[in-house]
Amino acid sequence: MSVLAETVWASMPVPAFVVDAEDRLCDVNAAAELFLNASARSVTGVPLFDRLAIDAPLDDAFARVRSDHAQLFINTVDVSGGNRPPQQCNIQIAPMIGMPGHVLVIMEPRQIADRLGRAGAIKSSARSAIGMAEMLAHEIKNPLAGITGAAQLLSMNLQNGDRELTDLIVAESRRIVALLDQVEQFGNLAPPHLRAINIHDLLDRARKTAAVGFAAHMKLLEDYDPSLPATRVDGDQMLQVFLNLIRNATEAAGPEGGTIRLRTFYDVSLRMRRKDGTGAKLPLQVEIIDDGPGLPPEIAADIFEPFVSGRDNGTGLGLALVGKIVSDHDAWISVESVPGRTVFRLSLPLAPKEDPET
Ligand SMILES: Nc1ncnc2c1ncn2[C@@H]1O[C@H](COP(=O)(O)OP(=O)(O)OP(=O)(O)O)[C@@H](O)[C@H]1O
Ligand SMILES: [Mg+2]
Repeated sequence: MSVLAETVWASMPVPAFVVDAEDRLCDVNAAAELFLNASARSVTGVPLFDRLAIDAPLDDAFARVRSDHAQLFINTVDVSGGNRPPQQCNIQIAPMIGMPGHVLVIMEPRQIADRLGRAGAIKSSARSAIGMAEMLAHEIKNPLAGITGAAQLLSMNLQNGDRELTDLIVAESRRIVALLDQVEQFGNLAPPHLRAINIHDLLDRARKTAAVGFAAHMKLLEDYDPSLPATRVDGDQMLQVFLNLIRNATEAAGPEGGTIRLRTFYDVSLRMRRKDGTGAKLPLQVEIIDDGPGLPPEIAADIFEPFVSGRDNGTGLGLALVGKIVSDHDAWISVESVPGRTVFRLSLPLAPKEDPET
């Protein structure tokens, strides 16, 4: 194999297998090693079906690929290997050019695409961007852990000057891992666990966390309507929403700081149309208002899309996560921004009268 071909083979983010005319494994790529939980060398010569349990008549498929020299796709089959539970995959089978009887089998685990399918509010282009990123995130973390570990080992035998370099490798690797974690958070976000909650308790928690941390130099004002009834949300997820909004306002203000106002009030005029045609009332309004420079006009329309950022070090995932959480709640978020006044308004439902606080 050429160096490029080898690199492509090793870098493929999905498991790939080459089998000979007798269905014995000739080679597997790095992703397949992970999937099988075995090294390429140890599985060479082993019948494919000894290592993979595939819930589909693949013998027929292989025979057809060999006789017709054509590719085949098999969607949504359960595959298990390397002692792991079955995983739904899409499988592609292709004849190997110039290697009679040999076939290439590529498996694409479906869970990533399916999990993202739940996020109705995220446009499909964004969805595939996240899906791709999520898959990459998963694949990059393993080698990165290896790099970090190797740098730490190396640093033990180094002089101080050189140790700065290994420290840099470790620190930067950690930064990448943190970013990847954020990307993976999307797919791992569980459906909201809804319960009746006093919105002011949540806002207070967000305000305190912000005030002792990233927003220590900001002035945080409360402007609450204390008579507001309880809402029905997933408290942890909503806390993430508030923290993200306060963090963005803080970052927009810059090092000189500024003022952030947390405002709550009642407004019955907003009603959300659900997909099933019923309308949900969203009368509880929470506004996060800042006096910073406002949204950069060139990205203002797209700030809820993933990877859209107006900041040098921004990943552009904060508001995409906010958007996903809000849409999972059948709630609503809107924004109005001019220089000196940016308002993110969250509209939430009332808790039903006798909602069990479980
Ligand atoms: N209160 C605000 N004032 C001005 N601009 C804002 C405000 N909130 C968001 N933005 C703009 O919207 C962009 C997208 O925000 P988002 O939270 O999605 O990503 P990010 O903050 O750049 O990165 P991350 O949140 O992933 O660290 C920001 O980069 C910023 O340009
Ligand atoms: Mg942000």
